[in-house]
Amino acid sequence: MSEKNIVETSAAEIAVHWQEEDYFAPSPAFIHQANLVDETLADRFSLDNFPDYYTEFAELLTWYKYWDEVLDTSDAPCWKWFRGGKLNASYNCIDRHLAKNKNKTAIHFVPELETERVDHITYQELYVRVNEFAALLRNSAGLKRGDRVTIHMPMSVELPITMLACARLGVIHSVVFGGFSASACADRIIDSNSRVLITMDAYYRGGKLLDHKTVDNEACGLAEKEGQKVDKLLVWQRYPGKMSSNAEIVEGRDVIVNDELKKYYGARIEPEQMLAEEPLFLMYTSGTTGKPKGAQHGTGGYLAYVTAMSKYIQDIHPEDVYWCMADIGWITGHSFIVYGPLALCASTVIYEGIPTYPDAGRCWRIAQDLGVSIFHTAPTAIRALRKVGPDEPAKYNYNFKHMTTVGEPIEPEVWKWYHKVVGKGKAVIVDTYWQTETGGFLCATVPGMQLMKPGSAGPGVPGIHPIIYDENGTVIPPGAGKAGNICIQNPWPGCFQTIWGNRERFVDTYFKMYNKNPNSKDWRDWPYLTGDAAMEAADGYIRVLGRIDDVINVSGHRLGTKEIESAALTVPEVAEAAVVPVIHEVKGTEPELYVSLRPGFEPSAELRQKVADAIVTQIGKIARCKNVYIVPDMPKTRSGKIMRRVLGAISNKGDVGNVMTLANPEIVDQIKGMVD
Ligand code: WTA
Repeated sequence: MSEKNIVETSAAEIAVHWQEEDYFAPSPAFIHQANLVDETLADRFSLDNFPDYYTEFAELLTWYKYWDEVLDTSDAPCWKWFRGGKLNASYNCIDRHLAKNKNKTAIHFVPELETERVDHITYQELYVRVNEFAALLRNSAGLKRGDRVTIHMPMSVELPITMLACARLGVIHSVVFGGFSASACADRIIDSNSRVLITMDAYYRGGKLLDHKTVDNEACGLAEKEGQKVDKLLVWQRYPGKMSSNAEIVEGRDVIVNDELKKYYGARIEPEQMLAEEPLFLMYTSGTTGKPKGAQHGTGGYLAYVTAMSKYIQDIHPEDVYWCMADIGWITGHSFIVYGPLALCASTVIYEGIPTYPDAGRCWRIAQDLGVSIFHTAPTAIRALRKVGPDEPAKYNYNFKHMTTVGEPIEPEVWKWYHKVVGKGKAVIVDTYWQTETGGFLCATVPGMQLMKPGSAGPGVPGIHPIIYDENGTVIPPGAGKAGNICIQNPWPGCFQTIWGNRERFVDTYFKMYNKNPNSKDWRDWPYLTGDAAMEAADGYIRVLGRIDDVINVSGHRLGTKEIESAALTVPEVAEAAVVPVIHEVKGTEPELYVSLRPGFEPSAELRQKVADAIVTQIGKIARCKNVYIVPDMPKTRSGKIMRRVLGAISNKGDVGNVMTLANPEIVDQIKGMVD
C-alpha cells in the first residue's frame, strides 16, 4: 500500500467533506489474492504513455488479427480504438474457454419463485444454445452483420444467450429494459430501425406472473404506425400455454422460438470476424431532451475495457461466483453481468426478481447457496435492504471478498452499514462512478492498492485522467473545496462511439463545452464532459455530487442534493432521504426535504426538527431546509430510483406529469396531501 494515499485533509476540506474523514484499508488476505497490486501503476498509466497503455487491456482478449493502430483520431472526437484489429465478442465470452473450462458454470439463473429450479448453465451448454439461436436468427429471421435488433426481455438465461448470438453474427443488439412500456420500446425500435423484436412470454415480479408478450404486441403496432414495420417478433416461452397473449399469434410475424429452435439442433455458427470499431450494441439512455439517445458501443474497445475493469477493479478471478444485481437492460448489466465476467470465464449470477421477495433475507440466501464471492449493487438497493432487514445478513453464511456500489452517490452512513453488516467488516468496497456512455468505470479505487473513503468514488481508474473545470474552463485544483464539471482529459476504449444516427448531438452534448478548436484532430483538445458536478479532494479522490442539474444553488452557493441527504441519513430513524430545490424569490432556490423512516419509528414534530437540525449542524445554515416532510414511501421508478422530479413538482406546486410508470404511483397523491 502506498503511503501517499493516507494524506491529511486540509481544514478547509474538512469543512466541506464533513463526513469524509474516514479511510478504510483492504484486508491483507484480499491484497494477497488481488489481481492488481503494482507500485508503478501511476507511471505506467500516466498521460505520457497514452494511448499505448491501453494495449494491455486489449491483450486480455483473443484476436483474429491484431490492430494496425491503437487510437485513430482522424474523425475526432469519434475515436476509433484498435483500428484494423479483428475479433468476436461471443467467441471471447464463450469459445475460448471451452478447451479448459467447458464443464464450468457460466451462468447461475435464479428464478424469483423459490419453488422453481435454479439453473446452472455450463460454458459448453452456453456454447450450444448460443450457436443454435444464432442459426435461428440468421436463417429464420434473416439477420446479418450490421443489422439492428431490439431485445425486450426480462432477466433470464435466454437474454444473454440472445445477446451473445447477436454478437456472434455481428448483429447490433439494442436491449430495452424489460419493465419499459410498449411506447418506450417502440421509440427504440423506430430509432434503431429494427425489423426484428425479440421478447419472452412472461416473467415473475413480486410473486406475480406478468404477461410480457402482450406489451410487445402493442410495441409492434406503435412502431408500425410510425413507419417502422417489425417483420419478425421472436418469442421465447418460459411458461408455454399459460398466458393468453400467446394465443394471439400474428401469422407470418410471430415465431415461437422454442418450436423453431428444433430446426437448428446441433447447428454451429462460425463467429463473424468483426473489426474492432464495428458496433457491438446500442444502449438507449435519457438526456436533457425528451428523446432517448442510442449510445453506440464498439466491439474491440468496449470489450477490452469491460474485461480490464472486471479484472482489475472488480477483481474477478475465474473461480469467482459473481453476482451483480442490476438488470441486464441497463449498462451495468451489459458490462458486469454479461460481457466482463464471461470474458474472464467467471460464473455470473442472474436473479430474476426483486431483492426483497419473498422476504428480506432473499439476497443473502442466494449468496449463501451459490457461494457468491463478489457482490455488486446500487445504493438504492442497499438502502432498501437496510430498511427492511437491517439484521438479516448476519443470519446467513456467506462470505463476500468484494462488494461494489454504482449508479448514485452513496451516503457515508449507508456505506458504513454496507461495509459492516453486508460485508461483515471483511469485504472491500469499490464505489464505481461511470455512465451508460462510458461503457465502464471512470472513477473507483483499485481495491488491493488504494484506501476506501466512504462517500467518494476514488481517483480515476488506471488510464482515466479526470479534470474538474469551472464554468469558464478554468481548472479547479484538487483540495480547492469547490465543485465543478467533471471531465475526462483523455479518450478511453470503453467510451461510446457516437449517438446512433446523430453525430452532431454526440459532439454538442459531450465535447463542445470545453473544446478549443472544432477542427482539431488532437485528443488533447476534446475533453469529455460527463454532465456531473464533482469535487476533488487533496488526496485526488473524487466525490460526485450528482448531475449538473441536481445541484441546488442557494444564494449563489452550490449544494449537492446528496450532501443534504447524507446529513439527513445520519439521523438513525431515517431510512431514505430526497431533497428538491424549491423556488425562492431571493435565494434562487432553497432545499426541501422528504424522508422515510426505518421500521418501528413514527413521524413526529420532534423527529422533523431533529432532521432539520442535523442538516444545519452537518453542513451549515446555508442548507437549512424550507420543510422536512416525513412520508410513508418515496415515489420510485421500477428500477428503484427515487423520482426527485416528482417530489420537485409537488414542492413547487407544479405538474407531476405522468406517474403511472412509477413502481408506486399511489404514493404521489398521498404526498401531495401532506404538502398542500
Ligand atoms: C450517476 C450508471 C455517484 C452520475 C452506471 C452519472 C454516480 C449517472 C455513480 C450515470 C457513483 C453513477 N457515484 N454518482 N458511483 N455512478 N452515478 O448512465 O450522475 O445510468 O452521470 O450509468 O449516474 O447513470 P447511468
